[in-house]
Amino acid sequence: MLPVAELHMHIEGSLEAELVVALARRNGIDLPTFDPAELKSRYRFTDLQSFLDIYYDNLAVLRTKEDFYDLGSAYLARAAAAGVRRAEMFFDLQTHTQNGIAPATVFGGLTAAIADATAATGISADLILCFLRHLGGDAATETLRSALPFRDQFIGVGLDSSELGFPPSLFTESFGLAAAEGLHRVAHAGEEGGPDYVWEALDLLGVERIDHGNRAMEDADLVARLRDEQIPLTVCPLSNIALKTAPPELADHLLPAMLAEGLLVSINSDDPAYFGGYVDDNYAAIETQLSLTPAQLGLLAENSFTSSFLPEAEKEALR
Ligand code: HPA
Ligand code: ZN
Repeated sequence: MLPVAELHMHIEGSLEAELVVALARRNGIDLPTFDPAELKSRYRFTDLQSFLDIYYDNLAVLRTKEDFYDLGSAYLARAAAAGVRRAEMFFDLQTHTQNGIAPATVFGGLTAAIADATAATGISADLILCFLRHLGGDAATETLRSALPFRDQFIGVGLDSSELGFPPSLFTESFGLAAAEGLHRVAHAGEEGGPDYVWEALDLLGVERIDHGNRAMEDADLVARLRDEQIPLTVCPLSNIALKTAPPELADHLLPAMLAEGLLVSINSDDPAYFGGYVDDNYAAIETQLSLTPAQLGLLAENSFTSSFLPEAEKEALR
């Protein structure tokens, strides 16, 4: 496996069914079933929302700092084994505060997991706080304010959850505050929403990367902008198949067309516990089903470092 950076993964989406069950037992929480295989049999999705409903349900098992530590540690060990040298991990703070968990518990567990994983494997990792779009703009601003005491424990903000009906324009205040704090800015756009959501993320939120961005391909002017400014798109092939945001066959994915357009695309796992695999599984799937050449795979790996928020000197050391 090539050395890569992973820039689009939700740490909560790496919560494997086995760990859901173990944490439920540890915390005395009821589940519809304590059989991981049966839990996983529900992972059949028709769209983004059908996934999010199950994903949020499972996250009720995360209660203590140790739970967040175990979640982060499991991903970072698996990622390091997959060739990930740099991980920029999304986390959904609002999901946990809505479940009654203090921000200090979430930050404490995830930050300790990163420190120990770096010491054990050399992996470099940082956190990006994602706002839940379905909770609206005011909640996003309030959440960022509540996270500012932990400002040194995350490098940026993002925007995730239900896309349709929650355009980037609702989040100008929180992203403005993030910019004033010197935080990096990214947003999911063009996963289910149209090219207009990508334009808004760029023009109204000032994002430095677009997460997914597949539907940008419907707008030639937007493709030209993304190419000319080399704005990174973090593409998630197995996620697109699982959530039906791409044609049913991976062989028909737009990735080769995106590369042909000269777009700065990278390959990412999104929610590896739900969509059929980690970043190495995504690379393996596109290699075989899209017949990518070694040069194209090398370019995708190189793009992942180019697109990361690491300072140049640190990128060089990891490549
Ligand atoms: N899309 C939007 N929001 C999300 C996702 C996703 O794939 N995973 C977790 N939150
Ligand atoms: Zn995502």
